[in-house]
Amino acid sequence: MKTLAPSILAADMLNLGKEIEKIEASDSKYVHIDVMDGMFVPNISFGVPIISSVRKKTNLVLDVHAMIVEPDRYIDEFIKCGADIITFHFEALDHNRILNAIEKIHKANKKVGISIKPNTPASEIYKYIELLDMVLVMTVEPGFGGQSFMYDMMEKVTSIREYANKLGKNVDIQVDGGINDQTIKIANDAGANIFVLGTAFFKSEKLLKIEDLLNNEK
Ligand code: DX5
Ligand code: ZN
Repeated sequence: MKTLAPSILAADMLNLGKEIEKIEASDSKYVHIDVMDGMFVPNISFGVPIISSVRKKTNLVLDVHAMIVEPDRYIDEFIKCGADIITFHFEALDHNRILNAIEKIHKANKKVGISIKPNTPASEIYKYIELLDMVLVMTVEPGFGGQSFMYDMMEKVTSIREYANKLGKNVDIQVDGGINDQTIKIANDAGANIFVLGTAFFKSEKLLKIEDLLNNEK
């Protein structure tokens, strides 16, 4: 499965309902929700009340990207307010807490992802791949929308895809940061299948759809 995951970080918050309708109209299956705490990343975005509001508005998959310290403390709340996928950062927890967080999210029948920042090697998460639904390879330093795509992250995407294939594991690989009509093709070729678009999606005059962006590929 391939889909766009439009990030509401770049949406017009005064018209969030309309922005969600735009995501639905694009045939995207995910809404990407960037939770930032001003500690794990320098920026503060939004949290549980926004996730609850989006949940009331749509049946799309709510893909919560937690850029927060101690993300395991918030798993229950994210689930309660309607998250379908919870992705936390590898850099935010030690090994045992990572394992416990994965187990807790799965016990609630939700999907779990682990994200790696640009300076974290792909090999750090190999040991978790079998347990994960998704790996998020950051293609910018997390914290802000509108940054430039880091092309050198594509080697990590390809290594993770090759490693997962060797295990026979069909894991989703998400890329996030600087994805637009050009870079999405590069990420797709590298082996990614879930594409987060913030600025490119919400600032475009045209409604962006994955089949147009990938030249009719599904
Ligand atoms: C950045 C966030 C992204 C952000 C992407 O830390 O994780 O999801 O919204 O924005 P663009 O697509 O503008 O780079
Ligand atoms: Zn994100």
